[in-house]
Amino acid sequence: MNGEQNTEQVFQIGSIRAKQLDLFAPLLLLAVVDAMKRGEPVTAIGIVKEGIACGALAGYIESGCFHVASLYVTPDYRRAGGAGQMLSKLEQILQKMDGIWAMDMSFTNLDPDNASMIPFLEHYGFALTDDTGYNIYTFTLEQLAGDELFEKEASRSLKIVPFAKVADDILHMTQKHAFEKGAPVPEGTLTGQEIEKELSHVVIKDGEVVAFAVFDRSCCGVLSLCSLWSEESNPIILFSLLKTVITRAKELYPPKTPIALQVINDRSLRLIEAIVSDAKKVSYTYEKALVKHD
Ligand SMILES: CC(C)(COP(=O)(O)OP(=O)(O)OC[C@H]1O[C@@H](n2cnc3c(N)ncnc32)[C@H](O)[C@@H]1OP(=O)(O)O)[C@@H](O)C(=O)NCCC(=O)NCCS
Repeated sequence: MNGEQNTEQVFQIGSIRAKQLDLFAPLLLLAVVDAMKRGEPVTAIGIVKEGIACGALAGYIESGCFHVASLYVTPDYRRAGGAGQMLSKLEQILQKMDGIWAMDMSFTNLDPDNASMIPFLEHYGFALTDDTGYNIYTFTLEQLAGDELFEKEASRSLKIVPFAKVADDILHMTQKHAFEKGAPVPEGTLTGQEIEKELSHVVIKDGEVVAFAVFDRSCCGVLSLCSLWSEESNPIILFSLLKTVITRAKELYPPKTPIALQVINDRSLRLIEAIVSDAKKVSYTYEKALVKHD
């Protein structure tokens, strides 16, 4: 490790080089490890004590901001200033770069281990940013609106079919078509292994797929509505689709099952307000301005 000794905390600290990646990989998010293996410009810092890798911080720069993508200290080494040391090291590195004005970190509270992140970031001068309602929300199946909300809008002229009963090539074509029209498409594909095929549905009108709702487990393993798209801005189509998936979800899963939905625009914000009461925000972004020393 290309590092320096901190006599007070006895952590060695330094940048994580490619050849040390295996040592620190268990302390980094998988996506970060993969990005580093691909040679992407990731800044990664690690701490070691008595030969044991006990913490890592990694992130990347975008639009003048350093995004901390991964920060972790193993439980036995916490509250000894290790994460603080990595943050100070990062600030030293960023001080030398031009055009970097802030650092931020986004995380969800779905993993209880993340609860320590908020007091830690506040301790080091980070502040919660205003998300203007765009966030990941969770709620349980039983919190979802019942049939009364959808009674008037339901339409019998549409065919609503689970992915499990749709041929893969139709789903491929649908994905391509929807993507061209600007639909939010899940990380994988509509035919990916991770898709909940019994719960995800397409709407067919006059033989064409005109809308879909896709569920996977992309948000911390929780059942997640990861994509909702309708070609026409026709509320009947959307509400018929939602009625079907909500009814099906209630058949497939117990009432206390948690569901996650990411709000990415005003439309999805209105949607969540309409279909669920008391949804909880689970994602936080904390930010700190970088004060440049001359
Ligand atoms: C958050 C985390 C990185 C902090 O690491 P750390 O090395 O213990 O942090 P530090 O010792 O530098 O803490 C500095 C200060 O932050 C605050 N702090 C840190 N952890 C805290 C906690 N659990 N509760 C309250 N305050 C806390 C304290 O003010 C602390 O100073 P103090 O110990 O003198 O009171 C660590 O707890 C962790 O890895 N948590 C899990 C995060 C995770 O799940 N990451 C994966 C997704 S990216």
